[in-house]
Amino acid sequence: MAKVAILYGGRSGEHEVSCTSAAAVLKNLKTGHSAVLIGINREGIWYLQNIPSPFPDILAINCVISRKLSVLPGEGLAFSDGEKLEVDVVIPVLHGSFGEDGRVQGLLETARVPYAGSGVLGSAVGMDKDMAKRLWLQAGLPVVPWKTLHAENDSGISVSAAGELFTELGRPLFVKPANAGSSVGVNRVKNEAELISALKSAWAFDRNVLVEKAIIGREIECSVMGYSNPKAFPPGEIIPAEEHDFYDYDAKYTDPDGALLKVPADLPETTVLKIQSIAEKAYRCVEAGGLSRVDFLLEEDSGEVFINEINTLPGMTSISLFPRMTAAGGINFTTMLEKLIAGAFKEFSYREGLSYSI
Ligand SMILES: Nc1ncnc2c1ncn2[C@@H]1O[C@H](COP(=O)(O)OP(=O)(O)O)[C@@H](O)[C@H]1O
Ligand SMILES: [Mg+2]
Repeated sequence: MAKVAILYGGRSGEHEVSCTSAAAVLKNLKTGHSAVLIGINREGIWYLQNIPSPFPDILAINCVISRKLSVLPGEGLAFSDGEKLEVDVVIPVLHGSFGEDGRVQGLLETARVPYAGSGVLGSAVGMDKDMAKRLWLQAGLPVVPWKTLHAENDSGISVSAAGELFTELGRPLFVKPANAGSSVGVNRVKNEAELISALKSAWAFDRNVLVEKAIIGREIECSVMGYSNPKAFPPGEIIPAEEHDFYDYDAKYTDPDGALLKVPADLPETTVLKIQSIAEKAYRCVEAGGLSRVDFLLEEDSGEVFINEINTLPGMTSISLFPRMTAAGGINFTTMLEKLIAGAFKEFSYREGLSYSI
């Protein structure tokens, strides 16, 4: 049994979602482990939190009476007065910036603390839609055609240049920041003026913005777990309610009837096998580890399958697709967390066994 730190909140647009995911992780942690809660506020400051009783559906972060924590290079975690906080393993239950993109993973590796999920590289590449797509394309995996526009080079984009993007990629188009999540900064645009304005909004979130062909069809997602030989679970489907143009922020979080999350997805066996095989390859390709959810777009007319994106720290609330899909494959939430913890220790010993001197 281990002392398991759940790291949640964070300096990210997905702060609240993380607090909800973390509550579900706490609730489902195997009896016998001792849980330690570390809440990160919106400024990025870490605080040790009390374990609430009974377990709530969303974890709060108290920054007033709580003790601040810091990460010590080579020495783990400590309070500001220098007293150490001993933990055996950290589960980052963080979504988006600073938590899902490799930055927190780098901090934990520097501190020599075992942690669950993808490493620095897998997290960073998985978070960056442009980088991930370039690797998938190189590996011959199906991705939606796109162009990436840079804030510094393309901010003065003309109406005619915007028009060329429609000619090349079709109409409508999707515009999205390379590094973001929860549909933040994502827009569907039908004309040049909308495209230019959507680019400006997306550049607020990242200097690289993708302009992508719109795929008309179904949204299928697939949980994958493991390290060098990852395994995909039965896929699920997101069916956004009709009043939402796509699976936007409101459909995800503010409208309780915003979307139907169906597990398993109603798909022919051949399509399921194809999606699972592509999901495992996409996962290995970006060097994801521990867990990820690979999201697909299934084109209605052609029946073609495209990888949309990978989420290396997917939503973990009790109604989220990731834990529901692993459960559909016979691994309940508690067992899934046990696998993540075991993987964290294995990866840690691997790293510690490497030679860092000559
Ligand atoms: N190329 C596309 N074609 C059709 N729908 C898309 C496309 N790109 C994104 N979407 C819609 O926008 C949503 C959010 O985009 P996504 O790329 O998944 O970003 P995020 O990381 O914010 O979830 C998707 O779930 C889907 O509904
Ligand atoms: Mg998405």
